[in-house]
Amino acid sequence: MFNFRHLQPELPLGLDDAVSADSAVGQLTVGIVTPNVWGFDIERAAMRLLGVRSATTLEGEDVVGMCSDGFFDCLIVELQNPLTIMFCNDIKSDPYTNLPMIVLVDEVTQSLAPEAYGLGVDNVMTLPVNPEALAMRALRLCERHREQRALENPMGVLAAVSRTVEKHDPYTAGHIERLRAISGHVARSVGLQRAEVEAVRVAGLLHDIGKIAVPGEILRKPGALDAHEWTLIKQHPVHGADIVATLRQGDVIAPMVRSHHEHWNGKGYPDGLGSTDIPIGGRIIAVVDAFDAMTTDRPYRSALTLEEARRRLSEGAGTQFDRNIVTALLDLSPRVLEKRWEDALSL
Ligand SMILES: [Fe+2]
Repeated sequence: MFNFRHLQPELPLGLDDAVSADSAVGQLTVGIVTPNVWGFDIERAAMRLLGVRSATTLEGEDVVGMCSDGFFDCLIVELQNPLTIMFCNDIKSDPYTNLPMIVLVDEVTQSLAPEAYGLGVDNVMTLPVNPEALAMRALRLCERHREQRALENPMGVLAAVSRTVEKHDPYTAGHIERLRAISGHVARSVGLQRAEVEAVRVAGLLHDIGKIAVPGEILRKPGALDAHEWTLIKQHPVHGADIVATLRQGDVIAPMVRSHHEHWNGKGYPDGLGSTDIPIGGRIIAVVDAFDAMTTDRPYRSALTLEEARRRLSEGAGTQFDRNIVTALLDLSPRVLEKRWEDALSL
């Protein structure tokens, strides 16, 4: 089996070329599954060549779990034995973990290459590999994978629909994008895991998509709504949940969307849930939604000051809102609360 000694002469060459050519051309997170020391050098090469955010050499980690959490853009797997083939099968056969995958074989394991291709592995390369060629192939595969996902993923379509719904009310322009961003910050600060944070961000973006089922004249009505109109409005979280249930994480996102008008004291809608029966994503969106509405100009009033919004949110903590979520929001950086996004992005 080839190991680091076989690759050693080639690695400095690839690295030096990369540095001199200033060829960091992409942003990927690559998982490298290998028991061999050379994995670290492939990692080093990949990072230099591609401007990779992080490249992680893995052995004995829960790689399948990490893939399902969306941790990687791409996997590089050294094929050692039939067990590794089973691992490739696990990754490629599950739509939640089906990432671009490059398999590395040596003179012993190259007989397994046809089987690997049969499982859907995207590329097989023979050791010793040129790090630059490996890194460039990973980049190309990721680009192709992203294009395919963009075409297949209904998320882009739903985001476009959500923005269209938002146009019913010109005063809410940018509201859903702010909801996505601020809800993500709050979700992180209360300790949610990466996949949950992403689900909250998606729910924040799509929380009002169900308004598409509410007549526009009701949404735009300047005066008070009558009882029938209120009944229709109160159904928008239900319609929204039905729509987002079609997404990849729909079983997680739909309850968040459905519950974003529930109150901590059980007096909200549509289900009258209370306290921790309300999904945490719904509780987060409820607070951020109220905060953004308070701090944005409305037809009937100017935006409240940050101090006044703080006071009102604190007042509603424990009755309308989850107190912990209010605290988490109000503890966010002033750059986020004041919606200075260019600054906030660097947090
Ligand atoms: Fe809503």
